Amino acid sequence: MSTHRVEIKGSADAFDVADGQPILDAALRAGAWIPHSCTQGTCGTCKLKVLCGSVDHRESPEYTLTGAERADDLALACMATPQSDLVVEPTGAVDDGVPHHPLRDYLGEVVELSDVAANTRRLVVDLDEDMAFNAGQYCELIVPGHGVGRQYSMANPPGEQRRLEFHVKRTPGGLATDGWIFDSLAVGDRIDLRGPLGQFNLVHQQAEPAILIGGGTGLAPLKSIVRHALDRELVPEMYLYHGGRGRADLYDVEFFTDLAAQHEHFHYRPALSDESWDGATGLVTDVVVGDFRSCKGMSAYLCGPPAMIDAAVKSLKRRRMAPRLIFREEFTPAASVATP
Ligand SMILES: Cc1cc2nc3c(=O)[nH]c(=O)nc-3n(C[C@H](O)[C@H](O)[C@H](O)COP(=O)(O)OP(=O)(O)OC[C@H]3O[C@@H](n4cnc5c(N)ncnc54)[C@H](O)[C@@H]3O)c2cc1C
Ligand code: FES
Repeated sequence: MSTHRVEIKGSADAFDVADGQPILDAALRAGAWIPHSCTQGTCGTCKLKVLCGSVDHRESPEYTLTGAERADDLALACMATPQSDLVVEPTGAVDDGVPHHPLRDYLGEVVELSDVAANTRRLVVDLDEDMAFNAGQYCELIVPGHGVGRQYSMANPPGEQRRLEFHVKRTPGGLATDGWIFDSLAVGDRIDLRGPLGQFNLVHQQAEPAILIGGGTGLAPLKSIVRHALDRELVPEMYLYHGGRGRADLYDVEFFTDLAAQHEHFHYRPALSDESWDGATGLVTDVVVGDFRSCKGMSAYLCGPPAMIDAAVKSLKRRRMAPRLIFREEFTPAASVATP
């Protein structure tokens, strides 16, 4: 198999990319960092400038990489593959001050598959070997028989490197969920996955209190972050909000209630939008806005459906949170099935 050499301008990193391999995949496997988020062509975070050489954009969606951007030699690192040796320059910061762990393929065995909320499963996988990752990152689970991956965030803290916990929401007609995780997948099955991926994380100690908002299974990476941050005392005060329509959508309520009872600097507030109860009622973002008159000097970690994240970002900015302190992970559908 032939390879092409790729150099990242302004860094010492250079790596080989095999025929048909996306630039991002090869970079992360070689321990070189290119900013990225979705790894499926939908977010644009991995955009880079091709300074020298040419690429095949493959299935890069037009709504993420326009014709004008292609003409300007921009490319999506998670989709494009080299047609020659390349010199590239990422459009985002290559040194983000976070220690990154190389991407690798893993094999694991399903040890738990349980229904924890409406159309929501907890999937626990024992890996054959440890995976180092940052709290907040995700893996791609490979759908058997299709060879395609779907992203699922780790809910366990990075101190647990052998046993990974995922929270999966069923998508009606979805390839990975309806067609596999909610259908044929069973305890004892062997599965393929690759990771770690993504730049949504909480790694360093921070002075700002944090508001964490999860919609549905957007709770998963926040659970990892909360457990890690409490273990290491990384954040002075944490407020976790979990939004669902009704009580049937909430899960791990006892876990977080107990955690809040054990840690006076951790607060847990589930919110229901479509059902009245003795807890917070309304859209989770409205509940947050009602709780804080000002978010100046605070940070936020947001995860879940794109619409919830957009609403949360607008609300937090209105409450004077600095945009640079708002971190987000959007659960966007795969580019092959998404509409712009
Ligand atoms: C970085 C990242 C992390 C993620 N982490 C998690 C996680 O921890 N837990 C989790 O449950 N999911 C997570 N997701 C979403 C997940 O990767 C899949 O997209 C989702 O499970 C659907 O996959 P599928 O193969 O079943 O459906 P597909 O076959 O991909 O889609 C089937 C149909 O459903 C639509 N669809 C798919 N997903 C959505 C959606 N979110 N909203 C609206 N329509 C949709 C598609 O447009 C399509 O028409 C994450 C996504 C990203 C990008
Ligand atoms: S990481 Fe490439 S488009 Fe999202």
